[in-house]
Amino acid sequence: MKTSKRVARIPPSETLAITARAKQMKQEGIDVVSFGAGEPDFDTPAHIGEAAKRAIDAGETKYTSGINELKAAIAAAIERDMGLKYETTDICCSVGAKHALHTLCQAICDPGDEIIIVAPYWVSYPQMIRMADGVAKVVNTTGDHGFVPDIADVEAQLTDRTIALLINSPSNPTGAVFSRDVVKALSEVAVANDLLIISDECYDKIVFDGLQATSPATLGDACRERVLVVNSVSKTYSMTGWRVGWTAGPAEIIKAMNTYQSHETSNPCSIAEMAAAAGLLESQDCVEQMRQAFEQRRDYVVQRVEAMDGVTLPKPQGAFYAFPDVSQHYGRTFTGRQVTNSATMIEYLLDEAKVAAVPGDAFGADAHIRISFATSMEQLEKGFDRIAAALK
Ligand SMILES: Cc1ncc(COP(=O)(O)O)c(C=O)c1O
Repeated sequence: MKTSKRVARIPPSETLAITARAKQMKQEGIDVVSFGAGEPDFDTPAHIGEAAKRAIDAGETKYTSGINELKAAIAAAIERDMGLKYETTDICCSVGAKHALHTLCQAICDPGDEIIIVAPYWVSYPQMIRMADGVAKVVNTTGDHGFVPDIADVEAQLTDRTIALLINSPSNPTGAVFSRDVVKALSEVAVANDLLIISDECYDKIVFDGLQATSPATLGDACRERVLVVNSVSKTYSMTGWRVGWTAGPAEIIKAMNTYQSHETSNPCSIAEMAAAAGLLESQDCVEQMRQAFEQRRDYVVQRVEAMDGVTLPKPQGAFYAFPDVSQHYGRTFTGRQVTNSATMIEYLLDEAKVAAVPGDAFGADAHIRISFATSMEQLEKGFDRIAAALK
């Protein structure tokens, strides 16, 4: 049967694939430790679930085109957290940040338009840009420099087709948090070259060592007028399955996104929208509790990786991922099989150590593997014992 050339150009998400494979092994009774997940392991806080139940009882079960309560809650949360005012017409509600980014690419990209992304990048960026007939221009970074892009490398990617610069701080997969100076320097490139800035802020509340994530939207009017802030309730409130995300930015682009979405998904689930509004407006204590747990786990992971030979790890400062460089082990033969790249390393770890992680090539960095520490300390201990033994 025929499928489209568009789909043929796109590989399936490797992060979802490895999670599914680990799940399958677990179902077969194999004791797999999964470091593949891109989602918090905590339950969605109870008060958010209660808000969903109330929404059902109140009959909030119809089409919404982005429920007003949610748009108002997003605007209020942005004002509380960033000191910026947005009107509800500056906000588009989508089915998670993934859908927001997809819709945004569809709304701004003409064939051949270029968007600059920073590698290691979140797996879906290049594919979403490709699905919109755009071209992802990649700026490489290294762990030695904290995965922070060099401004000259960003400028080297500029052409007359460049329309936007996409940044993601805290980053999935590296956990890097760009300093205010770095965000400012990147924003200045965007302003000087009349580019949009897409700021994926999905992990903005999961930051360690007393740091704060800087949104380019907070860097003055010249910058803010070109910033599309993308965020969701997924990581902040452990609500990945609820599928609520948004974009806040220039009304013209938001209107284009709403037009596109009106023929695609309409609104996110109305009940989830009401729950998300409660998450954004009610007590933020749960956010801090989860953040503290992630910081403790980050400390543990760093300590375990530092004790391993041939593995280096720039300390993650946010999100819930460690992105160690394991390439010193490439070329080695373990139990009769040769590990030559991140994919074969991951296969080896899954088959021999029964630990699931994600190969770095999915993020444009084959020297690395991604380890999610969104799991219990007990699982971390068990998984790192196994990895350490497998790499000996
Ligand atoms: C950097 C980044 N952006 C966006 C998303 C999408 O999140 P969601 O669609 O659940 O809001 C993810 C999820 O893994 C992510 O890591």
